This record gives sequence, C-alpha cells and structure tokens, in this order.
Amino acid sequence: MRFKSLIMAAIGTCLSVSAMAAPVTIKVSHVVAENTPKGQMAMKFKELVESRLPGKVEVKVFPNSQLFGDDNVLEAMLLGDVQLAAPSLSKFDNYTKKLQIFDLPFLFKDMAAVESFQNSDSGQKLLDSLEKKGLVGLGYLHNGLKQLSANAPIATPEDTSGKKFRIQTSDVLAAQFEAVDAVPVKKPFSEVFTLLQTKAIDGQENTWSNIYSKKFFEVQDYITESNHGLLDYLVVTSKEFWMTLDADTRKVVKTSLDEAIAHGNKIAAEKAESDKQAIIASGRTKVTALSDEERKAWVKVMKPVWKQFEKEIGADLIEAAEASNQ
Ligand code: LMR
Repeated sequence: MRFKSLIMAAIGTCLSVSAMAAPVTIKVSHVVAENTPKGQMAMKFKELVESRLPGKVEVKVFPNSQLFGDDNVLEAMLLGDVQLAAPSLSKFDNYTKKLQIFDLPFLFKDMAAVESFQNSDSGQKLLDSLEKKGLVGLGYLHNGLKQLSANAPIATPEDTSGKKFRIQTSDVLAAQFEAVDAVPVKKPFSEVFTLLQTKAIDGQENTWSNIYSKKFFEVQDYITESNHGLLDYLVVTSKEFWMTLDADTRKVVKTSLDEAIAHGNKIAAEKAESDKQAIIASGRTKVTALSDEERKAWVKVMKPVWKQFEKEIGADLIEAAEASNQ
C-alpha cells in the first residue's frame, strides 16, 4: 500500500513538472517589414501555433533584420540561435547550387508558372537539397517577380551600362547584371535604402512589395516594370531543432506553417498589384513597362546566363522549370 502511494506521488510530481515545463520557443527571424507577404506569413504562423499549442510552443517574430540579416541567419540557425527563417531563394549559394535555378533571368513567365514548378516533383525534391547541410526546407513562400529601379530611365539593356546595381548574394544575379554590362554589388537588404539614398549605387532589383515597404521608390527616380526574375523564399529550420519536437507537436507546427504560407501567398498576389498602384499614385517615381520589343532585347542578352550555370543546376531541372510556362 505504502509502495503504491509512493508511486502515485512520484507520478503526480512528474505530471506537475511537465505541466509546468517551459514552452518550446520558436524564434522567427526575417529582414522585411511586417506589412509584406513574409511578415504576414510569420505573424499568421505565430497566431495559429500559439492557439493550437497553448503553453507548449511560443513563437517570437523578429522582422526588419532586428535579430539576424540574411547573411548570417543560416549560420545562426545551425548554432541553435534561431529556429525558423525564410531567406530568399537567392541566398542559399553557400549551401546548395541547385536553388540557383530560381534566379535564372526570364525563366518563369508569371507566378502561375512558378507555383506549378514549385509544386512539381522536381520542385518538391529541391526542398531536400539542404539536408546534407543540416537544414530542412519546409516549403516555398511567394513574394513575386522583380522590377528594376534606378536613378536614370532604364528601357534597353544598354541603359544599364556601367551602372551599379545592388544584388542579393547570388552568383547568377551577378552574371545577369554583368551580361548587360552593369556592375553588380552584393549587399544585405538592410543596407539598400541608404546605398540608394546616398547614391553609392545607381539602382537595384526587387519586388513591388519590397520597393514599397522599404520606400526604395522615394529614392529612385525611375522604375521599369520588367518582371525579369523571381524573388521567392524557402522556409527553413535546422534538422537538429526539427527533430527535438515530438511527432505530434511537429505535425501541428507543420500544418500551421502550411496554412501561414498559403496566407502569405495570397497577400503576395494582392500586394504585387496594390503596392505597385500605391507607388504610382505617390508620384515620387516614374513607372514604365518594357514594350515587347524591349523585352526581347533583354531576353537576348540575359538568357545566355542559363548556359553558364547549366552544369551546376542541371539541364533537366532547367527544362522542367521551362515546361511549367505552358
Ligand atoms: C532582398 O535581399 O532583396 C530580399 O531577399 C529581401 C527579402 O527577404 O524579401
């Protein structure tokens, strides 16, 4: 009898200790503003996870490069200092060469083609391309197609000659600007506004949502609607962290993330139009679109970049991505 009560007391103590156990903290770090597809995805994720796993998981979101920039967030993740991030697909060069596919200029004709490729077998396989490096790709998140901004009008490829353009840390993007005789400058997102404002650089490429939320349009006289490339994200965590979650928790976290991504994608589609209109309405910059003829000239000079990276990316993969345009 005495033995039984001792066991019961021990079980009771264990239960109350586990009931009081500190929640798992998921720190989410990103570099953009909160009113962007990624910012909204992160907030939605927090709302869903915390309501479904109350007291068990807490999510802390750090926007605007407050915690880490995209240049060091993956290292920090491997060290366990952050658990979730969604760097742009252009920022994984040091971890895999396969994701370079998403930077090839004029590869996707619209976001429907991007979506179709990402959902295909080839696209889904790419989520595992970071596994050997200790990272788990949890899903793609959209931002949208990129536009060119500069302090001089840009219509033909010759207009960029000798001009300095800020790019993300991607060798494909460097080659893309070299192809039009421009000077690519790899810099973190957090520095772009000041570089443009002080005229240390002449231009940059980004989505309507980033150009609007970070006010690049206020320090660039011209924007060319070129839709020449893609800026999407890979939501990642570390394998080590992912495996510390028990199977049930992991399942709820993943489902919540999938729903948050769907929410972010909806916002991305809306913002690609509404932020563009807000920029035009501001009257702070002149927005023009490439004509069909001008577009052909850009494709002609930039498309040879595909060949340059074909070995690293794989001809089959490029073909599969191209096929998503049909
Ligand atoms: C950039 O560096 O321009 C983008 O990757 C920022 C972002 O996360 O959208």
